[in-house]
Amino acid sequence: MHNFDFYNPTHILFGQGQIAQLAKVVPAQARVLMLYGGGSIKQNGVYDQVKQALSGHTVREFGGIEPNPSYETLMRAVALIKQENVDFLLAVGGGSVIDGTKFIAAAAVFEDGDPWQILEKGGKLVKAALPFGSVLTLPATGSEMNSASVITRSATQDKLAFASRLVYPKFSILDPAVTYTLPARQVGNGVVDAFVHVMEQYMTYPADAPLQDRFAEGLLLTLIEEGPKALAQPDNYAVRANVMWSATLALNGLIGVGVPQDWATHMVGHELTALYNLDHAQTLAVVLPSMLRVRKDSKRAKLLQFAERVWNLRDGDEDSRIEAAIARMQAFFEQMGVKTTLSGYGLDRGAVDAVVEALIKHQLVQLGEHRDVTAELSRTILEQAL
Ligand code: NZQ
Ligand code: ZN
Repeated sequence: MHNFDFYNPTHILFGQGQIAQLAKVVPAQARVLMLYGGGSIKQNGVYDQVKQALSGHTVREFGGIEPNPSYETLMRAVALIKQENVDFLLAVGGGSVIDGTKFIAAAAVFEDGDPWQILEKGGKLVKAALPFGSVLTLPATGSEMNSASVITRSATQDKLAFASRLVYPKFSILDPAVTYTLPARQVGNGVVDAFVHVMEQYMTYPADAPLQDRFAEGLLLTLIEEGPKALAQPDNYAVRANVMWSATLALNGLIGVGVPQDWATHMVGHELTALYNLDHAQTLAVVLPSMLRVRKDSKRAKLLQFAERVWNLRDGDEDSRIEAAIARMQAFFEQMGVKTTLSGYGLDRGAVDAVVEALIKHQLVQLGEHRDVTAELSRTILEQAL
């Protein structure tokens, strides 16, 4: 096992009715800015619950943070914060609202010029950030309990990530009941995103870390079992609770300590979203099966372990077990309603060229746990995903 330095300060309040706890966990004297997305929270009662809980607080609002949050929109919130002397942020929404709030928290106190540099330097320039909490409405990204954020600059079609210990949420409220109103597409997206987060930290090479492996396999198996139930029984609380907690644990850092990590699928996927506006999880469902097929030799030991422990595949030769495991995973993504080919989203060879060009532009040409996913290998992977 590799050395590691694990830090995760986010306070989690989990379960039905927990939004009422906002009254206690938001500092009483704070000048709060509540941030949200396109309005789903006004239709499903989450907005009213939050306002009720914060009725004794000073609260302003900023709505309209879009899926794949844009720098342009977020900078309008930064201006409002400065104008109104806001000193505490509350994100109410999915990964996009929480990621957007992380960027806003850092940008509002950024003193070194254009805050876009926060993204260009991957978070290294972040010296301070406003404190914030979140109310999660979409289990998927893990943003509610991690230090990462992914922001899009619409003008240039750049989708870049940053991370900083200064942007962990102070608290996150996870009430599974608020996820009953998710459209099926977002339920599927969330389960696939969480699944792929686990794979990015698990599907590499053995590192004498059997506990991390079994945590990862436990999450994969739970998502495989509970994900389809969330589609079939949208208001089953137990199912929603298990999906929600699985998605948080998939990317709160715990399963990735002491082990090699990949993340090539995410990096290629981000370019597909930036260029063609595919949902984040759609890009992952397209890229990961092909990524694993093309890189199966360097991932052989873990692919065989995945085949045996996650899909119960023990018969046949190694290559056929590996192919069967990848095919089962792909069928699972399709079962969750997420298509797994570029052509499924109306894209052709032109998209392959454009994504490879964007990877080169962003210097994402040495990806993966062995830094061997070059631009040319990404091309092969995308061609096989057509
Ligand atoms: O905007 P509103 O009206 O709220 O609607 C949203 C949005 O249209 C809707 N929604 C959310 N909760 C709902 C709901 N609709 C009904 N009922 C509810 N309870 O769902 C739509 C999608 O929301 P979004 O926040 O965009 O989805 P998600 O949580 O999947 O976040 C995706 C973003 O997170 C980034 C992605 O790149 C993408 O930009 N990621 C962030 C990561 C991180 N911070 O660690 C890691 C991930 O790999 C990912 O890259
Ligand atoms: Zn993801």
